[in-house]
Amino acid sequence: MYILGISAFYHDSAVCLVEDGNIIFAAQEERYTREKHDSSFPINAIRDCLINSGITAKKLDYVAFYDKPFLKFERILETYLAYAPLGIRSFLMAMPLWIRKKLWIKELIRKELHYDNIIIFPEHHMSHAASAFFASPYQEAAFLTMDGVGEWATTSYGIGKGNEVQMLAEIQFPHSLGLLYSAFTYYTGFRVNSGEYKVMGLAPYGEPKYKDLILENLIDVKDDGSFKMNIDYFNYCAGLTMTSRKFHKLFGGPPRKPESNLTQKEMDLARSVQEVTEEIVLKMARHVKKETGMDYLCLAGGVALNCVANGKLLKSGLFDDIWIQPAAGDAGGALGCALFTWYQYLENSRNVDNQTDFMKGTYLGPQFQNDTIESFLNQKNYPYIKLNDREIPDKIADLIADEKVIGWFQGQMEFGPRALGARSIIGDARSSQMQKTMNLKIKYRESFRPFAPSVMAEHVSDYFEIDRESPYMLLVANIREEKKKPMTEEENSYFGLEKLNVARSEVPAITHVDYSARIQSVNQETNPLYHQMLAKFYEKYDCSVIVNTSFNVRGEPIVCTPEDAYTCFFRTEMDYLIMGNYLLDKTEQQPMK
Ligand SMILES: [Fe+2]
Repeated sequence: MYILGISAFYHDSAVCLVEDGNIIFAAQEERYTREKHDSSFPINAIRDCLINSGITAKKLDYVAFYDKPFLKFERILETYLAYAPLGIRSFLMAMPLWIRKKLWIKELIRKELHYDNIIIFPEHHMSHAASAFFASPYQEAAFLTMDGVGEWATTSYGIGKGNEVQMLAEIQFPHSLGLLYSAFTYYTGFRVNSGEYKVMGLAPYGEPKYKDLILENLIDVKDDGSFKMNIDYFNYCAGLTMTSRKFHKLFGGPPRKPESNLTQKEMDLARSVQEVTEEIVLKMARHVKKETGMDYLCLAGGVALNCVANGKLLKSGLFDDIWIQPAAGDAGGALGCALFTWYQYLENSRNVDNQTDFMKGTYLGPQFQNDTIESFLNQKNYPYIKLNDREIPDKIADLIADEKVIGWFQGQMEFGPRALGARSIIGDARSSQMQKTMNLKIKYRESFRPFAPSVMAEHVSDYFEIDRESPYMLLVANIREEKKKPMTEEENSYFGLEKLNVARSEVPAITHVDYSARIQSVNQETNPLYHQMLAKFYEKYDCSVIVNTSFNVRGEPIVCTPEDAYTCFFRTEMDYLIMGNYLLDKTEQQPMK
């Protein structure tokens, strides 16, 4: 039986195909259209999904859509009415698309897919909850979902048992932890729904100077983690911006202009909202533990991508373990609604071993075989050498040690926002120059942004203060004491971005200014080639950590096809590209027309 899950029309449209409960494909539309966070109907991803899986839409037994469009529309109308006549401009801007497309999902799916069978619409937070629990390795667990907003819910929790997810409570719009974070993303001059990661990365450069101001004025948090926001400070209900004049007055000025210089104020604001978020997540998790008594917790929703908060939650020991859906944002809703249909709607049984999740390392997207890659390179006349399977780990390990920057394009593309060794750019974590080189010459992005490590799963605790795997780069932990480098008194006194130029550990390229790292542990079962390469690097150079950043340049989605990969390799100062068994050396490439 085939079930197709779709998420669309908010952010990060995606598709997922489930065959008899087995997730066989999942991908985001942005990778095909090359428009970051593309929210349009994911027709390209759907087509590729069906081709890759060798079926046509006629074979689909069910299609699931990740939210209830009419309920969402009701929320939008009610909000506009509550604020009318304020908000008329954004109302007039939003309505045509709702009336033309967003309300008629059923008809759209039927038309685009030539599909006549049943279509199911679970609620937005049910899709998140299903993506968190059903894909997790647990037979029984609590779940907590936190995002900007779906229909009405912005936060919910409950219990997952076997093939059923049960909601226990929710917090509703306009009170939203995701929107609070997004408001600060906007105010600090970053793009809402994508710059949140930058705010989190900026936080360690600042001090929590505004934390009390936030807690006293913007949000009232109860001991159980529930909260109410003072909507006077925000503008997202009726306006086209996130924050209101009152907000700007409270924090002493208008929002930072995008791309203008970052100041200590933005860093302090980032640190403050990050600490408030962590505090609320911990309070909520404590409440969920008390109410459910479960040993494990599953997380999804955009806020669950806040890996610093996740790391603190794990460290708190409130739950024996936590599992976070790697596609925690709305893309994961496509996977959640498909799994919801298989387990909860169709009542199929679900058996787990409490260790292996259902995500297959989240390598669920399209892949390109050697013959496809070779004919692409030949057709374009791009010079390459072909390595055999055994030569790849050896050669790449040597190139890394030589401080080369390498594009690594292998196997099925990752589902979710992180690159995990299928579409990655890699380099030597021991190099003190690597962070600067990669930020400025490869990614063309802000120099403050940290890079993440890929580490052999067996060695994760040798480098980091963590006692378990972190396969999806969703947990942050500190570098171990013995790997840190002592700092001089002068270095210790550095402020703000000055902190960036100090090598803080044996692996400075992946050590953030607060000694933390956003870890990806690499597992032999889910990514054997990447693991072999790390093992070879360890064998030859006595280090099992490398830098891993997503294979894209700033503002673009992660590469999908060999052509995307070549273009990105060529346009940046990347030194080598390994695609399948084919190694390309930048110095041998001819200028592109
Ligand atoms: Fe969501």
